[in-house]
Amino acid sequence: MTGAAVTRACALSDLVDGEPLGVDIGDVPVVLVRQGEQVHALRNWCSHAAVALSEGELTRRGLECWLHGSCFDLRTGLPSSPPATDPIPVYPVTVDGDDVHVDVTSTLN
Ligand code: FES
Repeated sequence: MTGAAVTRACALSDLVDGEPLGVDIGDVPVVLVRQGEQVHALRNWCSHAAVALSEGELTRRGLECWLHGSCFDLRTGLPSSPPATDPIPVYPVTVDGDDVHVDVTSTLN
């Protein structure tokens, strides 16, 4: 644990590689995506029409919104294709053993 703002989101073993998982951290909806030993955390909220991205799927271009197909880069939060044009917040993640911690009080983008 690195500070009061960092919250345990889930166990690393709860995450299936490439399968998005939605969690709420306080009142912030977060989608977690595991790629090997790396975990990404983004706002679970498409910037186009505010649907949950955890219902989408991971593609080569990023996390794809299930409703209209915009893909969001896991590192930058930027959509690579319309109709979404605005990025979504990307949160810092730390993995400590089997614990995945996310800080929703700061962003990486
Ligand atoms: S709601 Fe996500 S692309 Fe339209």
